[in-house]
Amino acid sequence: MATWTRDALQKLIASRMAGYKFIVVANREPFIHRYQGDRIEVLRPASGMVTALDPIMHASGGTWVAHGSGTADRDTVDANDRLQVPPDDPAYTLRRVWLTKRQEAGYYYGVANSGLWPLCHVTFTPPVFRPEDWQTYREVNRIYADAVLEEAGNDPSFVFIQDYHFCLLPRMLKEANSNLIIAHFWHIPWPNREVFRAFPYKEELLHGLLGNDLLGFHIRYHCQNFLDTVDRTIEARVDTDRFQVTRLGQTTTVQDFPISIDFKEHDEASRADAVTEAMDRWRRRLGRSARIVGVGIERLDYTKGIPQRLRAIDYLLQTRPEYRGRFVFLQVAAPSRSHIPEYQRLESEVEALVDEINFRWSESGWQPVLFLKEHHGQTDLMAIHRLAHFCIVSSLHDGMNLVAKEFVACRTDEDGVLILSQFTGSARELDDALQVNPFAIEEMASAMASAIEMPAEERQRRMRRMREHLARHNVFRWGGKVLSELLKFDFSESG
Ligand code: G6P
Repeated sequence: MATWTRDALQKLIASRMAGYKFIVVANREPFIHRYQGDRIEVLRPASGMVTALDPIMHASGGTWVAHGSGTADRDTVDANDRLQVPPDDPAYTLRRVWLTKRQEAGYYYGVANSGLWPLCHVTFTPPVFRPEDWQTYREVNRIYADAVLEEAGNDPSFVFIQDYHFCLLPRMLKEANSNLIIAHFWHIPWPNREVFRAFPYKEELLHGLLGNDLLGFHIRYHCQNFLDTVDRTIEARVDTDRFQVTRLGQTTTVQDFPISIDFKEHDEASRADAVTEAMDRWRRRLGRSARIVGVGIERLDYTKGIPQRLRAIDYLLQTRPEYRGRFVFLQVAAPSRSHIPEYQRLESEVEALVDEINFRWSESGWQPVLFLKEHHGQTDLMAIHRLAHFCIVSSLHDGMNLVAKEFVACRTDEDGVLILSQFTGSARELDDALQVNPFAIEEMASAMASAIEMPAEERQRRMRRMREHLARHNVFRWGGKVLSELLKFDFSESG
């Protein structure tokens, strides 16, 4: 199998997509401008989706349409709400869309993140559906549709939509301009039809999604769940052999495309001197008693299984006294969606647990858990990954999980153990991780002990195999496969 590279993707785009505009739609923007006093700073958001799309945008030089959410965003665009990014080395266009607080509340905090997010992740967090939010969700999808139609103009265009924020957008676009070729990638799980049944506006939502030419999920199981949901919910012809749905003359192909990261870029960037210097800083911060270091890095989200992992650490210290005074767990969590009560509850729960564990076990000069509710840049995140004896990803449910892949890509020393929830998409690829049921505290504690005790050769063997896998299954392969599939809908090409 030939390895996909940035170059190969660029060539595919240049040779097969020339003459087309390439428009990506995603709620979260890749660069956020924010005021710090009078100074404007640029922030890279914590989002697996952004990490994955950025290299594809570089390769395509297209336009990314997103919500302008930073306090200085309006002051950094031109008269058409556009700017070239990355700000220090422009490669593609960011088109910002403005939403009012009411629109943000109903569409982003409401339908997307209080409704669809918990509904699609089976984590036993009840979804909340408010009728007025659904009105706003429609309204905001329309705002994005107008922006995309304006960007496309009369030119042939490929539109690549991201995630659960835009279920109604594909149909709106197709109705307004049937020449658009539209793909949509669903970055989170699609639940089984029993769970999905609870969504109050399911017919309208599915009708919207079936405006796509191509609909992608991470794994085949989610494709099957989607077909099954459609079959039981609305009038449509479902072809389970070809994974296609036809409704009102429009056919949508449903396919799995496991997403990944730019392995080479991570590999190279993690070797930089700045990362080594950051590792020294972090080692000093963790203290001399941190002879064994475990880490967890993610958004502060209830799907990530942070309380479960902390309970496992508590259990580990209780059952393995030999680790007391020597083991430190560093939990870095970027604040996320903090206007939603469920996220506030999680934050209090995590803080209380950390406090309880540290109170129970700390002794002179040592405490077992360092919890940092902070946003960090790439250099620090890489440094943390590189100094860890193990990294734990204990998501209760996760479409893919790119942190697991980033950890592996940073370990150019071929050391470090990945403990990975079996309920992530990544677990299907990374069989050399120690796979755990994140709800099983004892099992997780014992995986931590195995990670700590694992002989160096075994650590290396496992890490090497995971690295080999990711070097080939990188984000350019994901992008190349999605775009190659999308090109099949270019009827002008097939003549
Ligand atoms: C998940 C979603 C992305 C989202 C990210 C961060 O990875 O699939 O669409 O961008 O979470 O969440 P946020 O709400 O901050 O964009």
